[in-house]
Amino acid sequence: MPKDWFEWHDFYNTEPVLQQRLQIVGQYISDSLDVSLPGIIRVVSVCAGDGRDLLGTLSNHPRAKDVYARLIELNPKLVERGRLAIESAGLAKQIEFINGDATTSSSYAGAVPADIVIVCGVLGHVGDEAGLNRLLRNLSFLSKKGSLLIWTRGDTNGIRHSDTVRKLLGEAEFEEVSFKLTATGDMGVGLHRYLGEGSALPENQQLFVFSGDPNRGSQPVSQTSGE
Ligand SMILES: C[S@@+](CC[C@H](N)C(=O)[O-])C[C@H]1O[C@@H](n2cnc3c(N)ncnc32)[C@H](O)[C@@H]1O
Repeated sequence: MPKDWFEWHDFYNTEPVLQQRLQIVGQYISDSLDVSLPGIIRVVSVCAGDGRDLLGTLSNHPRAKDVYARLIELNPKLVERGRLAIESAGLAKQIEFINGDATTSSSYAGAVPADIVIVCGVLGHVGDEAGLNRLLRNLSFLSKKGSLLIWTRGDTNGIRHSDTVRKLLGEAEFEEVSFKLTATGDMGVGLHRYLGEGSALPENQQLFVFSGDPNRGSQPVSQTSGE
């Protein structure tokens, strides 16, 4: 068991499921940038970790200079690592890495509606189906018609939770653009397009609950978590 979410990120060095997930997420981010209209591309990342998915993709994408992003993450050491990566990529004027609470609407003020919303490693930590549905419905505050959503959800005990995510996203006015399972077969990664009109961002509204102790990491993905 990792002692915190910073240490949890070490699993990227050893766990095929996380490495494969990152590869698909990076591909979906790249695909989303490819189809973005000319001009500024706004991106938000919810519970961003150290931002390796977005930052890794931008390091090698022709639209990188058009991206204005806000990454929101509670663990200060992950934010520090992300900020260093932003600095060294020369993207400090465009990418904000906020050390804050991604569950509250106020953290997104001024950064939404986004063209691309990244919610990776989150959907397995929002409680039951009602908690999941709450988060997915509240994505209307971060989105506008045509926004692209990139998300992940793993299986636990053979239960394909990504099926539930896909069903609820359909009910929340998202259409599926692409869905893949990792080669390990137990982690779903989706790319959805928002078809709704979006809603004005409220002040200080809780958008979802990140369950568990925010300072503690979860088990290795391959064993339990279904991130
Ligand atoms: C499973 S990790 C996923 C990190 C990253 N998105 C990825 O896919 O690599 C979950 C992250 O959520 C962060 N987190 C937990 N509660 C949070 C909150 N209320 N606000 C912002 N980040 C939070 C944790 O610190 C952790 O880095």
